[in-house]
Amino acid sequence: MRTLIRHVLASTTPREGLTVQGWVRTRRDSKGFSFVEINDGSCLASLQVVVDASVPGAGQMHDFTTGASVSVQGDLVASPAAGQRWELRARRVELVGKADASFPLQKKGHTLEFLRTIAHLRPRSNLFGAVFRTRSRLAHAVHQFFQERDFIHVHTPIITASDCEGAGEMFRVTTLKGNVDGDPAADFFGRRTYLTVSGQLEAETFACALSNVYTFGPTFRAENSNTARHAAEFWMIEPEMAFCDLAGDMDLAEAFVQAMARHTLEHCAEDLTLFERFVDKEVRQRLAFVVERPFQRVPYAEAVAILQRSGKSFEFPVEPGANLQSEHERYLTEEHFKAPVTVFNYPRTIKPFYMRLNDDGATVTAMDVLVPGIGEVIGGSQREERLDQLLDNMKFQKLDPKDYWWYVDLRRYGTVPHAGFGLGFERLLMFLTGVGNIRDVIPFARTPGNAEF
Ligand code: 4AD
Ligand code: MG
Repeated sequence: MRTLIRHVLASTTPREGLTVQGWVRTRRDSKGFSFVEINDGSCLASLQVVVDASVPGAGQMHDFTTGASVSVQGDLVASPAAGQRWELRARRVELVGKADASFPLQKKGHTLEFLRTIAHLRPRSNLFGAVFRTRSRLAHAVHQFFQERDFIHVHTPIITASDCEGAGEMFRVTTLKGNVDGDPAADFFGRRTYLTVSGQLEAETFACALSNVYTFGPTFRAENSNTARHAAEFWMIEPEMAFCDLAGDMDLAEAFVQAMARHTLEHCAEDLTLFERFVDKEVRQRLAFVVERPFQRVPYAEAVAILQRSGKSFEFPVEPGANLQSEHERYLTEEHFKAPVTVFNYPRTIKPFYMRLNDDGATVTAMDVLVPGIGEVIGGSQREERLDQLLDNMKFQKLDPKDYWWYVDLRRYGTVPHAGFGLGFERLLMFLTGVGNIRDVIPFARTPGNAEF
């Protein structure tokens, strides 16, 4: 039976007769022996295997090259070498699949840009192994966080007819040939359909029945912004709570980010050492900082005043009434507050129709959570639960209530104050690992001009 290297290395006593399988990282030959480093992706560390030239299979040692897959049986013994506790003394070795000299990950020290061109092989590098193990643990932690708080997981649809954010950044889904702008009734679903930009509207319907719900799924945006923080396909976590206002929404958002930072410190310690060494020296400190400090809360108008008073010359000047740019967001968290910041009560004019209008008639109960190094990681709001006001918001944003009849219905039948938010999973991972480009925290990035793998 195969034992994963992660468990082999966690042994507290020597063990006999283990089988280990994985990919060769390096091999060094010495007189009558070879030393082979094997990694199986179960953890960051590789296992050193010592192969005596006389053991069965050792005749093929010349094919145990970087990238080859191998199977080894042997005994785990204390290693005399510095820097490792255990090594495996092989009793028999077997070459499973060769890798010739064209294997592109021969040497260390490739650039991230180069590794993106071999997205099918980069999980075999130390960095990407660490990133995707962390991604997996965090995905689990997301479910754990919500399940422990009695949130019900809802699978919202990927194909949808409604533009939740009203930003018109949707990918069309159609089976029409030729003129895709022809009769919508002739299309597959009998209407125009798109890939979802958010599961929120559907999540709201479930919150108005099951109280506390969340979605966790792929989300698509056809924004043509080629930045390090935007992907055309990304994963979003969207909780929605009935009988909840903006303050409750901010409480949950902040607790969620803190819990994810804590989980990373506690459960991804080995991979974090790699991020610390090769990606971002301050990552661990930053996580500890988020776990320990309360988030700052500041109304949008005050955030704008702080930015105006800052005396900084921003690339995009601060304009009251406009969206904050990421340089503004980063100034607030990194320089002014030196803490994660939740900005709330944004101008009505720059936010979607579903946000609840404040009594001032000019702002809505929107909130964004900003973290150092990234800027916005969460966007959310209390929802407009008043029927007349929702219809007025739709008119204000030039939307036809008929297109959203089922969403409007929620305000007709037992409406309740409710609130929720969306957290971009890749943005969170960038924050937690220190990896600076969204393309490097998602297995196969989709960005403008890029969908090869
Ligand atoms: O602020 P956004 O657009 O909010 C919504 O979609 C709401 N419907 C959420 C809700 O209230 N249920 O997006 C939410 C988060 C952002 O804060 C950001 O982290 C991430 O999604 N995000 C992106 N991540 C990667 N690439 C993109 N193009 C992203 N656009 C948004
Ligand atoms: Mg947003």
